[in-house]
Amino acid sequence: MRVDVVTIFPEYLAPLELSLIGKARATGILDVAVHDLRTWTSDVHRTVDDTPYGGGPGMVMRPEPWGEALDELGPGHLIVPSPAGVRFTQPLAHALAGEPRLIFACGRYEGIDQRVLDHAAERMPVTEVSLGDYVLFGGEVAVLVVLEAVVRLLPGVLGNADSLIEESHADGLLEAPVYTKPAQWRDLPVPEVLRSGDHGRIARWRRDQSLLRTARRRPDLLPALPPQALDRHDRAA
Ligand code: ADE
Repeated sequence: MRVDVVTIFPEYLAPLELSLIGKARATGILDVAVHDLRTWTSDVHRTVDDTPYGGGPGMVMRPEPWGEALDELGPGHLIVPSPAGVRFTQPLAHALAGEPRLIFACGRYEGIDQRVLDHAAERMPVTEVSLGDYVLFGGEVAVLVVLEAVVRLLPGVLGNADSLIEESHADGLLEAPVYTKPAQWRDLPVPEVLRSGDHGRIARWRRDQSLLRTARRRPDLLPALPPQALDRHDRAA
């Protein structure tokens, strides 16, 4: 997968060198380039923003440098982090993991002139993506989040592909709690069922814990489950 990130703060993306993302880059599964938007400015002040038409607070990113950047880097699936975007979810991470080319446009201030997105949409898919219902200073941290979620789904990045199957959100439910040794820590034992060796009981317990956790913490996820996601035993639980 080839990824280009355009930002006015390239240093913000330094964590892309680290850990599993760094490993995916080293093995050639992932090719990432981070670009400074100001490379595509032509005035001496290297201006990237201006006051909003119609008035209001803050500044808006001017279209010209973005247009030049996308002319040079595109086409690819353009991802624009924004609190006004569609919610970033595990299914969206899976969809993006199937793309050969992603281009991230990091907005700052009040956002990017809408014509940049409208113009790009004539040549490439454009998705505005929100991490959640809160506002960040800009899109850089959101790019790190989206890329981490996407890159770990690329074949060959995770050592153990099984860990993708049971994790939270893989089946629309939250994952059950996990334990390791020692069997007793302070006054807290590991639940007996997990030490029983009875795989049927363990699977049932994990499933019940998943359902309970989801019902308590994220009841909003339950109506979104497809009908076949819940079996006869689940309904009893
Ligand atoms: N930029 C600013 N706020 C954001 C959010 N909540 N999600 C994604 N990008 C953002």
